[in-house]
Amino acid sequence: MIDLPRVHAAYQSELDAAIDGVVKSGSYIGGPVVAEFQERLTSYLQTPTFGVGNGTDALQIALMALGIGPGDEVIVPAFTYAASAEVIALLGATAVWCDVDARTFNIDPESAKLALSAKTKAVIAVHLYGQLADIDALENAIGAIPIIEDTAQAFGARFTSGKHQGKFSGTVGAFGTLSFFPTKPLGAMGDGGAVITNDTALFDRALSIARHGQSKKYIHDIIGVNSRLDPIQAAVLNVKLNHFEATLLRKQEIVAYYQSELADIEQIVFPYEADYSSHVWHQFTLKVLDGKRDGLQTALREAGISTIIYYPIALADQNAYKYMIERVPIETSRSLCEHALSLPIDPSMSNEDVYYICQMIKQYF
Ligand SMILES: Cc1ncc(COP(=O)(O)O)c(C=O)c1O
Repeated sequence: MIDLPRVHAAYQSELDAAIDGVVKSGSYIGGPVVAEFQERLTSYLQTPTFGVGNGTDALQIALMALGIGPGDEVIVPAFTYAASAEVIALLGATAVWCDVDARTFNIDPESAKLALSAKTKAVIAVHLYGQLADIDALENAIGAIPIIEDTAQAFGARFTSGKHQGKFSGTVGAFGTLSFFPTKPLGAMGDGGAVITNDTALFDRALSIARHGQSKKYIHDIIGVNSRLDPIQAAVLNVKLNHFEATLLRKQEIVAYYQSELADIEQIVFPYEADYSSHVWHQFTLKVLDGKRDGLQTALREAGISTIIYYPIALADQNAYKYMIERVPIETSRSLCEHALSLPIDPSMSNEDVYYICQMIKQYF
């Protein structure tokens, strides 16, 4: 779906120099390069952040900092990546599924409200595919329950209207969590993640949890984990942050190309662009109607084009999570599993590449 060496080729010498600098520095855990990236990330998002090992750790640490454990319920959309629910299970808490909005594929605030109980301790709002969930509406629906924004797929997306206008994804909830998985909007060359929060007490607690529960070196006040952003990954991220906006512009061009070339195909529903959010196009995900999704995927595969179904099974129907709570209808989540198909949105694709994909789609229909 994305040719990362080709993406990186545009600024290969910068990457090589940054990685070489870490290799020669001898500073392999923490150190100045990690500090530099954390400062730049914090300044970009205008919200305090610290690096961790990956996006799943970031979610787990956020839940731990909120004190979530056995007996607690956490509401999470049934249509998302497993990590969003896995961390709830790992802490002995219970995931309660809610549905997603049929247009944005993001958490449906009214469904989240119906899923609340006296045991609800947090809601995980996933900003799926690069577009923000409607946090304003979610806050109105659920009241004071803390929101964790899983912003693994939406680094750089901003609220364009409403109470949070101008703010970045991950900066308005009790916590935001980032993944720097290589294909993510801001991707490293291995695992990486970050925790984001404006709340000083939560920041200190989460940072301590990520450092084995230490308040000072060798003083362990709470149970924690070991989760750190690696300096080589931080060096890569420092370079990729410089190129983030340019990459986004190229993705926007590709999206416009898809939209104009495929506009006449009735069985295709384009991604809906909400009026309250910008879109960083982590995925370009179609809804393919009339039972044509799998046939289209096969035809494209035969034409040498990769596509991915994010996600083929709702989390509530995954064997690992069947014991969690289905308190409200999740029909939209289940239906999207039948219809969603993500096309390549690789910023290094040429216009000819995109044209070829569009021609093959037209040929299929
Ligand atoms: C929505 C969502 N949450 C969490 C994660 C977990 O991130 P990581 O792979 O860095 O642990 C991912 C990515 O894989 C994701 O897409």
